[in-house]
Amino acid sequence: MTYDQPYPHESELSATSVQLNHTAVYARDRHLSAEFLAVILGLEVGAPFGPFLPVDLGNGVTLDYYEKRDEPIQSQHYAFLVPDAQFDAMIARLEAVGVTYYADPSHAEPGRINRLFGGRGAYFEDPDGHNMEIMTRPYARP
Ligand SMILES: [Fe+2]
Repeated sequence: MTYDQPYPHESELSATSVQLNHTAVYARDRHLSAEFLAVILGLEVGAPFGPFLPVDLGNGVTLDYYEKRDEPIQSQHYAFLVPDAQFDAMIARLEAVGVTYYADPSHAEPGRINRLFGGRGAYFEDPDGHNMEIMTRPYARP
């Protein structure tokens, strides 16, 4: 295996300097799915960038919605840390568009939220079956 550029020196690259910048989110209809997430979370859909339709998040990560029409879309899990003050509005918007939310990732507790880690959280499906999560406190790992 060869690389055009040499490896960066250890001092230039550490775990704390590596950040997720963007990821592709597969969708049957990129406009529909990007708009869905943006509406629920109170975000904006950006201008198309080639085949991608971006939704920028508050920590600099971009979700690039990308259409995949010819094969099934594998459900992925995306979790969003959201301000506590906006959580109720997000739940209200889910109710307004008729999308069921759940307290648990396996969707066994419809219409309920969880209280994990001293915060509030809920799960819902996007139009492509991606399992979206909103939470006001990040997971506390031992
Ligand atoms: Fe999660």
